[in-house]
Amino acid sequence: MKNILVTGGAGFIGSNFVKYMLSHTGCSIVNLDALTYAGNLENLREVEADSRYVFVRGDICDRDLVHNLFEKYDVDTVVNFAAESHVDRSITDPDIFVQTNIMGTQNLLFAARRYWSVRPEDKHCREYRPEVRFLQVSTDEVYGALGKTGMFTETTPLSPNSPYSASKAGADLFVRAYHETFGLPVNITRCSNNYGPYQFPEKLIPLMIHNCLEDKPLPIYGDGLQIRDWLYVEDHCSAIASVLEKGRLGEIYNIGGNNEKANIEIVRFILSRMGKNKSLITHVKDRPGHDRRYAIDNTKITAELGWSPSYTFEGGMAKTIDWYLANPQWMEHVTSGAYQDYYNRMYHG
Ligand code: NAD
Ligand code: DAU
Repeated sequence: MKNILVTGGAGFIGSNFVKYMLSHTGCSIVNLDALTYAGNLENLREVEADSRYVFVRGDICDRDLVHNLFEKYDVDTVVNFAAESHVDRSITDPDIFVQTNIMGTQNLLFAARRYWSVRPEDKHCREYRPEVRFLQVSTDEVYGALGKTGMFTETTPLSPNSPYSASKAGADLFVRAYHETFGLPVNITRCSNNYGPYQFPEKLIPLMIHNCLEDKPLPIYGDGLQIRDWLYVEDHCSAIASVLEKGRLGEIYNIGGNNEKANIEIVRFILSRMGKNKSLITHVKDRPGHDRRYAIDNTKITAELGWSPSYTFEGGMAKTIDWYLANPQWMEHVTSGAYQDYYNRMYHG
């Protein structure tokens, strides 16, 4: 049975992944999370008493802490979700993106190499325990933006446009370098936009649901015709589980569900499902350097690993909206305090 160190497991995708793995496999999980504004232990209530699960509050950049966790829990797998994940925040404050996303990933790689090596005293050792694997959760944004046609494949050159995507691309290159230089058994997954329960309402879909609930204007950046390729979060979790189980070491796998939608279509869907009026739509100033279109070619993961998404866009969105409607306290807790300042700065500042 695997002993997985999940980092960032109190965030949106990480918390869905922790629950997915505990219910679908016999693994044990150590969840290391700094509980930044995006981390929330309420996301993990249903597993906190599980004997196969332990939570540790801490920073992935903390060398001693990370090394101690490898030793204490005999970690054989790392799934690195921990990151600063919001593009708009990276535009106003890029420093922390470099620190967490690049330095933090380097620190985890360093510990994995040291702990998993069969001869840790040998600086040139390229042999590792057979069962170990480091999986870096990356993003399609590292490829940059597409025009009207074409799709991202795993060989598309990296061309990140925002400080966020630049920091994720930097982390990917470190993961690759640890594989090439030290032979560390790694994978990188690059997924398209996720949606689903527990997503923080700074991102498009939960922000629009929240504003609809409060009858507030729905702020669409620019013309709203930017395209994203949407995937229900549980499908992302099952894809990562497939890569952990069957992915070829050293390989990159794109993850996406062939669901390209313009932002305006998403907002119209939410309005109609929530029975709200289109007059709430408000076009606001565009995001600087706004990527026009993302689209994932998922041929490699579907053909090689037999993974495919289970949710249609309509089914996933209905489940998501219903979850937010059924959990008003969750939304209330995460939007009190600091969220109000963020919202005012971002949308009225
Ligand atoms: P999120 O912002 O909801 O969660 C990030 C988590 O990381 C939080 O719990 C936060 O407390 C934790 N964290 C931040 N800094 C930390 C640090 N220094 N040490 C330990 N923990 C720290 O993010 P998300 O949307 O769940 O994304 C998770 C990962 O998936 C990220 O790496 C992101 O780049 C990637 N990704 C996200 C999407 C998406 O659509 N959301 C798509 C593809 C890839
Ligand atoms: O593609 C994967 C990426 O998807 C992940 O790596 C990122 O972590 C995740 O945040 C997401 O990035 P985006 O920038 O695509 O997501 P966001 O939800 O911020 O925005 C989606 C689209 O909606 C984008 O074109 C900007 C637009 N938007 C967003 C917000 C918050 C608006 O028009 N209005 C808004 O208020």
